[in-house]
Amino acid sequence: MRADPSTFDALSNFLMERGSPGVVIRKSEIQAYFAKSGENGSIKKDLRCFLRGISEIHPETETPRIRWRILKDRNWNSSWHRFFRPQKVGKAFWVTPPWATPRTLGQRQVIIIEPGMAFGTGTHATTRGCMEFSEQVAALFGGTEFNALDVGTGSGILAIALVKLGARKVWAVDVDPVALKVARENLRCNHVQEKIHLSEAKLSRIKKSFPVVVANLTAETIIELARSLESRVAAKGFLILSGILNPKAKQVINQFAADFKVMRRKREKEWVTLLLRRR
Ligand SMILES: C[S@@+](CC[C@H](N)C(=O)[O-])C[C@H]1O[C@@H](n2cnc3c(N)ncnc32)[C@H](O)[C@@H]1O
Repeated sequence: MRADPSTFDALSNFLMERGSPGVVIRKSEIQAYFAKSGENGSIKKDLRCFLRGISEIHPETETPRIRWRILKDRNWNSSWHRFFRPQKVGKAFWVTPPWATPRTLGQRQVIIIEPGMAFGTGTHATTRGCMEFSEQVAALFGGTEFNALDVGTGSGILAIALVKLGARKVWAVDVDPVALKVARENLRCNHVQEKIHLSEAKLSRIKKSFPVVVANLTAETIIELARSLESRVAAKGFLILSGILNPKAKQVINQFAADFKVMRRKREKEWVTLLLRRR
């Protein structure tokens, strides 16, 4: 489908919620795959309805053009598999789907993520921002082990990255049972299940504090959870926040201004990732 790139995040969420195992974004085109099922008619209808909704909210965006293609059964897997390639994230990682192998490893560690129903395949600017800041924070620990908390773990990608960067134990929480199921499978594929405590516990129920807390949510959720998030960060600890649209960044920073200093701020496309440190 050809569409305005500003609508890609909303479209990706919609397509994946409707069962596409992942989406591929190329310039102004977004591609999604659906296994053949009796539901395809309703997916087409719902997509048209969703696009009408987007056009009403953003009348300035160009009208999307949709093209449907039926792939022969025998080609289906290889057709969508070839769109998910290993990709470098930061200086420390390759993120790869289970069926692919990165060309050269170098110093990079591999994280295997099955593109599926949970957010966090390493392609999104917010996930990458959190991984890059996690890498920088881990370097400051200089090989000393640390504990961490991942709020909104999705596919589990950030918790897995933190373990690979030297965390002794990571507490990973999500409110979505589907995400937790996907995360559990990804932890197993990466052999880190012993080091990650995965749970649907609400943030307010977690009583420990952590030297590293990462939360890739939305600006609105971060603001709502601000007091719980800050109280989970140990003295001199780090707080990595993402999922923040650029115009909302200041509002988020203000929530933490009393006790935290902004160490770094990374902007990619319309997204901002923040690295804060408790004073
Ligand atoms: C943008 S995804 C981030 C996934 C992954 N951590 C990453 O960086 O790619 C946000 C995740 O947070 C979860 N979430 C939303 N609100 C939450 C809350 N109040 N507490 C815990 N998880 C939440 C969602 O279910 C979703 O899986």
